[in-house]
Amino acid sequence: MAEKQSIEQFKSQPRLPKFAIPRRYDLFLKSDLSACTFAGTTQITVDVVDKTKFLVLNAADLSVQNGSVWFKSPGSSEICPSEVVLVEEDEILVLRFDEFLPHGEGVLRIGFQGTLNDKMKGFYRSVYEHNGEKKNMAVTQFEPADARRCFPCWDEPAFKATFKITLEVPSSLVALSNMPVSHEKLDGPVKTLSFQESPIMSSYLVAVVIGLFDYVEASTSDGIKVRVYCQVGKSSQGKFALDVAVKTLDLYKKYFAVPYSLPKLDMVAIPDFAAGAMENYGLVTYRETALLFDDRQSAASNKQRVAVVVAHELAHQWFGNLVTMEWWTHLWLNEGFATWVSYLAADSLFPEWKVWTQFVDEATIGLRLDALAESHPIEVDINHASEIDEIFDAISYKKGASVIRMLQSYLGAECFQRSLASYIKRFSCSNAKTEDLWAVLEEGSGEPVKMLMNSWTKQKGYPVVYANVNDGKLELEQAQFLSSGSEGNGQWIVPISLCYGSYASQKKFLLKAKSEKLDVPELINSFDSNNKSFWVKFNVDQTGFYRVKYDHNLAARLRYAIEANQLSPTDRFGVLDDSFALCMACKQTLSSLLSLMASFSQENEYTVLSQIITISYKVINTAADATPQLLADIKQFLITLLSRSAERLGWDPKNNEGHLDAMLRGELLTALVQLGHDVTIKEAVRRFYAFLDDRNTELLCPDIRKASYVAVMKTVNSSNKQGYESLLRVYRETDLSQEKGRILSTLASSSDPTVVLDALNFLLSSEVRNQDAIQGLGGINREGRDVAWTWLKENWEYISKTWGSGFLITIFVSSIVSPFSSDEKASEIEQFFVTRTKPSISRTVKQSIERVRNNAKWVESIRSDESLGDIVKELANRKSLL
Ligand code: BES
Ligand code: ZN
Repeated sequence: MAEKQSIEQFKSQPRLPKFAIPRRYDLFLKSDLSACTFAGTTQITVDVVDKTKFLVLNAADLSVQNGSVWFKSPGSSEICPSEVVLVEEDEILVLRFDEFLPHGEGVLRIGFQGTLNDKMKGFYRSVYEHNGEKKNMAVTQFEPADARRCFPCWDEPAFKATFKITLEVPSSLVALSNMPVSHEKLDGPVKTLSFQESPIMSSYLVAVVIGLFDYVEASTSDGIKVRVYCQVGKSSQGKFALDVAVKTLDLYKKYFAVPYSLPKLDMVAIPDFAAGAMENYGLVTYRETALLFDDRQSAASNKQRVAVVVAHELAHQWFGNLVTMEWWTHLWLNEGFATWVSYLAADSLFPEWKVWTQFVDEATIGLRLDALAESHPIEVDINHASEIDEIFDAISYKKGASVIRMLQSYLGAECFQRSLASYIKRFSCSNAKTEDLWAVLEEGSGEPVKMLMNSWTKQKGYPVVYANVNDGKLELEQAQFLSSGSEGNGQWIVPISLCYGSYASQKKFLLKAKSEKLDVPELINSFDSNNKSFWVKFNVDQTGFYRVKYDHNLAARLRYAIEANQLSPTDRFGVLDDSFALCMACKQTLSSLLSLMASFSQENEYTVLSQIITISYKVINTAADATPQLLADIKQFLITLLSRSAERLGWDPKNNEGHLDAMLRGELLTALVQLGHDVTIKEAVRRFYAFLDDRNTELLCPDIRKASYVAVMKTVNSSNKQGYESLLRVYRETDLSQEKGRILSTLASSSDPTVVLDALNFLLSSEVRNQDAIQGLGGINREGRDVAWTWLKENWEYISKTWGSGFLITIFVSSIVSPFSSDEKASEIEQFFVTRTKPSISRTVKQSIERVRNNAKWVESIRSDESLGDIVKELANRKSLL
């Protein structure tokens, strides 16, 4: 009984006990790809550092044979545990020995078996076609906590060890792991590959891929071999990513002042893949859409996605793999940094893409999520493995990257880089916490980094700074911004920057208190002279993670500055997006937002126009609920606003045109189609049918295909489904994932509920890979939201079974729930999930319901906006906004 009780002590613990530490894994795996099974042994060199009769490590979904387990310390014979217990709910394997284990190193051996699952995690199977035949490949995806589904291990990031991997595979297949092969033994139909022992690393970065592949190869200036592996016959699609990878490795070596630490880097396209990509040490795995680029069939946006994802995963080879977070609470150190650094790399490789301008759009996604009461701090408590998946969210990635950018801009680029390099050096082959990074940066800069940054990483949310000019003084006051319109009680140390009249006059300081009055004599004098063209813009270049609400006078002057083209694109974006957010939070009227939008009539910048489009979608969807009688006029205004740029760009690519114009053309045409602009719809449909006749037609280049597909879906209804069927034909005939994705993302965009239902059911069919179903949800319009919700409820059991073990399920919930805008719906949704919530979706459910309630408030506030009707009429009647 006493012994039993001691097994109990290991249950329901957030972390493994630390009385034994793994140092080295000798892992053997062999798999049967047709039977979808695998078996293996792991011999783990463990250092027993405390008095114990137990060894406790992780294991899940594995069968471990009692007789296969023994422990051997040097000089003594093997001892077997008297009890081997796999505790399912805690995913731990507890080994109880009758005697105390000797201190020091010993070897633990465990034999195990498992199934190559179809859940895209652990050791799983992915399906590809070769010569018309379906075949399985075997792939690992271990982050965050699924190495334990492949072999018993200490599956926490701080238990770093070396890995010596051996694989037995069919001779005809390619088998890859983190390190290069050191020895190969061919034995008829099977071969045994031994890989070199890795440097010390965390278990979540171990990887194995077994299948049939072609590759392209190149070397870095240091002679590191880089390869891109893809489906047989597609290797030319790997060239772009290969080139990006080679250049990026050279760049990071300089930036971090530490070379890439492994002898090779492989990057592999996997047909079934839950995330976008995974940074396994030396063996990075990708969705096909995030790695492959086809010169003729891929769009400019696809190209940018590939470059950014590659740059992101390679950043992890330093930030994450070489220096690893101590626990998942510090996940943002991995993801926030990789996101930020990927922009640095993309900007250096492709300056014409202006990715730092595009970054503000990324930041906005973080700002939106973090304006919910149900947001979480960047540093978040994690008490169970099942809670980890949900924090791979916009807080860790986008807010994380944004607060890094904010800090870099406060400390200066050089000082920041120097300190980062020392951080990487100091924590190489080890683990770090958030405060370790602050300490290094504090040392390098002499600034109070820890105090400043704690306010951003340890509490959720962010401030809105109210800026008022009063009695010859500039008054600033901060309050927590919430999209519900209420005020939270958070307070921050805000790095304020402002420029006035021109970018030559700037000021920077820390706002530490709730409010502060400033004497800026030059500024106030210019106001006194009542010079209407004098403006003040806070948060210069949008480097700070906060919003600004200007008083009436300041706001009017900024509108003038926008019209007079005196603000940078990022600052124009900032003024617009802050205004949009304040409007959704009912702190500003829709009429004032629309008037501000009208001042963007001369806008040419990709990122700004793209945001105007995003705002337009949200505005028309909400207006449709709030003031349907004004909808047509609002649409007319938005069409006029976007038409000038659409006309400038036309339908066909111009010779040598820029990347941003190519992306912008597609987004503008899609928006005009969505807004119901007849001329655009007709032309889009015409071009689609030309494409249907001839897939090589010049009339429908990849950048504008989505616009055509949406237009086609607008022509479809329950009695005429021809357009939908034609789209399905293109879907079935293409073998490019990006093309499949483009089509999926539009199939549900019909306004006829029966067609939407067909499309949603198609997503669940065997013709759509599980990884891709979520793409289809993005296409659901306001007209489809009711049928989508009913569909979600009816299929919940299946959806939850199929996608519920990963983070993809959260996308089902958020994309179907969030578009609603009434309190009754919010309650109905709440009711539905009461009995269906699990730790892995609970945060998303709460956030989505909160969004619905916020939408409802916004609808009410729009209804009470008395000047809206007149303003909308006036804006709609302007033939052009010139
Ligand atoms: N480490 C992640 C992959 C991951 C995500 C593993 C979620 C487990 C759960 C990887 O580095 C990553 O962030 N991938 C991104 C792409 C990136 C460019 C933002 C992704 O998968 O979307
Ligand atoms: Zn990442």
